[in-house]
Amino acid sequence: MRFLSSGESHGKALAGIIDDFPSGVNIDIDFINNELKRRQSGYGRGKRMDIEKDKIEIISGIRHGKTSGSPISFLISNKDWENWKEKMSLEAKQINENDFEESAILNPRPGHADFGGFIKYRLNDIRDVIERSSARETAIRVAAGGFAKILLKAFDIYVYSFVEQIGQIKLNYEIAQNKLDENLFFLAENSDVRCPDEEISNKMKNEINTAIKNKDTIGGKFTLFVKGLPIGLGSYSQWDRRLDAKIAHAIISIPAIKAVEIGNGVLSSSLSGTNFHDEIFYNKKNGFYRKTNNCGGLEGGVTNGEDLIISAYMKPIPTTMTGLKTVNIKTKENEISLKERSDVCAVPAASVVGEAMLAIILCDALQDKFGRDNLSEILENFENYKKYIKNI
Ligand SMILES: Cc1cc2nc3c(=O)[nH]c(=O)nc-3n(C[C@H](O)[C@H](O)[C@H](O)COP(=O)(O)O)c2cc1C
Repeated sequence: MRFLSSGESHGKALAGIIDDFPSGVNIDIDFINNELKRRQSGYGRGKRMDIEKDKIEIISGIRHGKTSGSPISFLISNKDWENWKEKMSLEAKQINENDFEESAILNPRPGHADFGGFIKYRLNDIRDVIERSSARETAIRVAAGGFAKILLKAFDIYVYSFVEQIGQIKLNYEIAQNKLDENLFFLAENSDVRCPDEEISNKMKNEINTAIKNKDTIGGKFTLFVKGLPIGLGSYSQWDRRLDAKIAHAIISIPAIKAVEIGNGVLSSSLSGTNFHDEIFYNKKNGFYRKTNNCGGLEGGVTNGEDLIISAYMKPIPTTMTGLKTVNIKTKENEISLKERSDVCAVPAASVVGEAMLAIILCDALQDKFGRDNLSEILENFENYKKYIKNI
């Protein structure tokens, strides 16, 4: 399974194409729309989220409720387009390559793709960069992730997330000691900041309020965990088949994610080998098992049957209400970057995007091992493999 997206933040619609999704999967569109709603919520979001009420419109790849194995294509409309029709018009305008339009944005925002993108594509207006580099595109990722989650559910595999840190406020828990369970996720679902602890949630909201008051922005950290993965997804045999590498790529591709951690990866650099590594045990009832999960379910780029645990670190939102120092590309004068009412903190939303990206990578890894074409066929192969493991 793979996907591509297209569309501008204030264009008519965003579009997605999912390729290599198996046939025979019943698609619950309400579930996908609810995933889109989850991405749009969270304390600290900007006004844009009040305008957009994302819904998916499926164009192809599904017939009578079931996938056919053909590419799935879909649209998500931008309601805000009504206010941007003129600015985003497709009609030709006469501007020479090195001329700049009167209304063009020419002061790149630090922390965005504005500077590199404007120069790279020889543009006349930074608006072109803003429109495509915007995190609005993550709506397509979440919709594609919705399809992936539906497929994973058929194998009893579930992807969860919760927010662990916003600004200076941190949830205190030890991955190795506290095995992650679904309850953490259900508690997070009921929190405005997707944090499972009510008291910490309130502190996180206060942290966001302080940032709003200071006309500033903040980042944080979220954690993803997956239950039900079989042993043996991914491979150690080539660098680009390692599942840890594929996951890190997918998660760091989310706008504003600056670091990805697998299990207790950060702590690992300061622990000794006897304290860090997860020793192997066996009993008749549970088969092979570990007492700790510092490695986050991945050893040598291969799943080991324990919960998969991935954390992502998000930088503060780059668009602030006071703007940041920059230079006008045309006049070379010092200026202040575009001041826009945008998100103050988007860590809760990013955690939903993280779930989606992880689900997509895991679907692909599952298809790599058990087949790509049809759900029943993949399920048969999966069940046979489970029997093989049981008989070891
Ligand atoms: C869900 C989500 C919402 C975001 N909202 C905003 C926003 O409102 N304003 C903004 O300046 N950046 C926002 N960002 C972050 C920028 O898109 C991102 O920092 C920018 O595209 C540059 O990419 P980079 O930080 O990965 O280098 C958001 C990111 C995510 C994941």
